[in-house]
Amino acid sequence: MSEIRFFSGESVPLEMHKVRMVQKVNLLPVEKRLNCIIDAGFNTFLLKNRDVFLDMLTDSGVNAMSTDQYAAMMQADDSYAGSETFYRLEKALQDLFGMKYFLPAHQGRACENIISKTLVKPKSTALMNYHFTTTKAHILLMGGYVEEIVGDGGLVVQSSEPFKGDIDISKLNEAIKRIGTDKISFVRIEAGTNLIGGQPVSVHNIREVSQICRKSGIKLIFDASLLADNLYFIKMRESEYKNTEIVEIIREIASLFDIIYFSGRKLGAARGGGILTSDDELFIKMREFVPLYEGFLTYGGMSVREMEAMAVGLRETTDIDVISQTPVFVEALSNMLHSKGIPVVLPPGGLGCHLDAKQFCSHIPQTQYPAGALAAALYIAGGIRGMERGTISEQRNEDGSDHPAEMELVRLALPKRVFTLSQIKYTTDRIEWLYKNRSIIGGLKFIEEPKVLRFFFGRLSPANNWHKELTQQFRNDFGDSL
Ligand code: F0G
Repeated sequence: MSEIRFFSGESVPLEMHKVRMVQKVNLLPVEKRLNCIIDAGFNTFLLKNRDVFLDMLTDSGVNAMSTDQYAAMMQADDSYAGSETFYRLEKALQDLFGMKYFLPAHQGRACENIISKTLVKPKSTALMNYHFTTTKAHILLMGGYVEEIVGDGGLVVQSSEPFKGDIDISKLNEAIKRIGTDKISFVRIEAGTNLIGGQPVSVHNIREVSQICRKSGIKLIFDASLLADNLYFIKMRESEYKNTEIVEIIREIASLFDIIYFSGRKLGAARGGGILTSDDELFIKMREFVPLYEGFLTYGGMSVREMEAMAVGLRETTDIDVISQTPVFVEALSNMLHSKGIPVVLPPGGLGCHLDAKQFCSHIPQTQYPAGALAAALYIAGGIRGMERGTISEQRNEDGSDHPAEMELVRLALPKRVFTLSQIKYTTDRIEWLYKNRSIIGGLKFIEEPKVLRFFFGRLSPANNWHKELTQQFRNDFGDSL
């Protein structure tokens, strides 16, 4: 993809696949979109997919699968124990990561549950480049703490730093000294650091962190859910690896960790998850939880058809044309928006384009959830469903006060090989209109607030009548257009 230059000099994210199966989408009139977002409590998670035109909520479980993945599903071996499918998936994982053991789980957070139950003791601290919502929730549930040690540059919305997900080595050393190795449950590195804008981690940084952890006897864990995008960035931005085979990069990374886990809804482009380790003791401890929470050891709560598709999807992760598709589309969307003065996270990461709601809606205080308001406004403006990744996605502090997020982002996820360039252009157009009318957007307040992971099904209401005003403005500007 990146090898093909256009005569015009234009940078175009060219698709290296053809589309053979399609799904119809609908765009409702703006007045209907207004009603839908009211019914959904201004929470894009609660919208019905039939009311969404472009679903950019997530890349989780919604990537396009290849013909080879679908073909593989046909050979699934349904059996409670000892299924041939399990051994095929295990082999694919061992070939890629070079680790001894594979424990299947129904998705990424299930792996987090098992790992937290195995390693998190009350009042212990898990150090990590940055938390992910479900990761943190599982650690807190076990009575542990989370401390983030990403470099300061990781939280700067716009910079030219190539690896904003890297751990700050001096912060790591300081935390080990202050907390003590016996009070550290583990160090966790998240590939394609989700909540700071899908930002990658360098092999160089992983190597340094691994050396420190090995010297101190601290377990090092890799969340490889977003590894595919991260591998692309290593190839493009870490000069040492420019000519290294992707599988060799994966092998080298894997050799630096004690445990690797992943959401198979992302890595492998199917639906499921798994944990890998070469450590006999850890394997035996974690194995106990698999039949208890997931299912027998040879399916772990997954459908065998998904496991077959995942095995093929994992192998396809070594194809640069496959792993580049999301990052180059994210780059195209981010650059189109940036060129119009719209604040987005730069450099563009993987996973999706991230709007900076703190700047976009600088008139909305953080206590009124600017990223949540912007996500709701974008649905009204274009039927586009993004995801709030700001204060609503945080859990409240123990004293009940809101925990203001370091970044207020609206994520427009681009699942692999799903959207076309014209849909990306439409998205840019509606965001540009919204940016011109941003002063209309107002804040939100909770009317129903779950205690854990409140962003999933919490309901909110607008602070004033801004949603109706925005709808009217759309009609004024677009006439009878949808
Ligand atoms: N780790 C990372 C980095 C993730 O992005 C996710 C999920 C998980 C763990 C949990 O995996 O969903 O299979 O249980 N991220 C999804 C998202 C939900 O939309 O970003 P899961």
